[in-house]
Amino acid sequence: MDAFFASPESHLCRNLREACLKRTPAIVQPALSSDPIEDFANACVRGFRSDPRRLESRFLYDAEGSALFEEITRQPEYYLTRTESSILAARAAEIRELTGPLRILELGSGSSQKTDHLLRAWLEQEGPTRYYPVDVSAASLCAACERVGSTYPAVEVVGVQCQYRESFPLLAQLSPVLVAFLGSSIGNFTPEEMSCFVRALAAALRPGDFFLLGLDLVKERSLLESAYNDEAGVTARFTRNLFARMNRELGSAIDLDAIEHAAWYRRDQELVEISARFTRAQSFRLTPPGKTITIGQGELVQTEISRKFRLDRVVPDLERCGFSVERVFTDERRWFALLLLRRRPIYSLRKPRRQL
Ligand code: TRP
Repeated sequence: MDAFFASPESHLCRNLREACLKRTPAIVQPALSSDPIEDFANACVRGFRSDPRRLESRFLYDAEGSALFEEITRQPEYYLTRTESSILAARAAEIRELTGPLRILELGSGSSQKTDHLLRAWLEQEGPTRYYPVDVSAASLCAACERVGSTYPAVEVVGVQCQYRESFPLLAQLSPVLVAFLGSSIGNFTPEEMSCFVRALAAALRPGDFFLLGLDLVKERSLLESAYNDEAGVTARFTRNLFARMNRELGSAIDLDAIEHAAWYRRDQELVEISARFTRAQSFRLTPPGKTITIGQGELVQTEISRKFRLDRVVPDLERCGFSVERVFTDERRWFALLLLRRRPIYSLRKPRRQL
């Protein structure tokens, strides 16, 4: 048996080991401490009652939402996926040369389509490879595992169905590992959430492990606003699906025709804010816990933020959180960046500073 499974620390690790002993592709998930429906309902009540109203974006990705997101990535206005994919296509072999052999764990893997570039480079340089996609959506994770497993028989793929952080206990045992976090999904965190997340990731990795991070860069307002307001209305359907999901799973009977998608760029904060606007006042009940929510006409409920980055600011931020920046790759228009980071040694030698 592989050494990295020798001391399973968590239930998730045990599941993972069992999955690897069977035929791949396989899916594992952590032992859930709470019921997923209750978790969704409680998070909705909290989000509707917070000021401003803000729903947790992880709930956008049920089976329908994940399929809609895939459709967003194919819209002509949504340049992010295409641009990042072109950087990956051009640089995957170089990335693999820089990292040497290691396993790949991908956070928020979705369809895993872009990851093909990495997997091909890994296969070419090393042969058999291990790939661990992590996603909250069981449906897209299963589909991605099956596709990767059948397209690349030499890739051993084990899907991990959980939230990002729930996969962190695995990292010490997967080391040496590269954690891929693509699509600028890190921009969906507030600055505080982001530094907390990056520090927790650094703490979970071993020194020398790698972190491949996709970042959408600050650019002209019109390009940004079009990317989140596509002509075909797919993004609007994606926003509305969150409320449709409440109707499906929590019996809320929200009138979806009275919900409009709204997304605009806030230059002061360098982020795209995505919200649902209630065009009529509504009351609805979420069960469990059986709480009633009342929303007035014209009120906004934020469903996502998507921060845009400047390299000169984000690089020192990441360095303060336990990583060194090994390489920065961008496209020729400098719309998107792919950063290859490395977990720094935990302790560094330096002369004690004299107290003044
Ligand atoms: N990570 C994606 C992004 O920030 C998520 C996303 C794209 C998204 N379009 C959206 C989230 C529309 C909510 C609504 O670009």
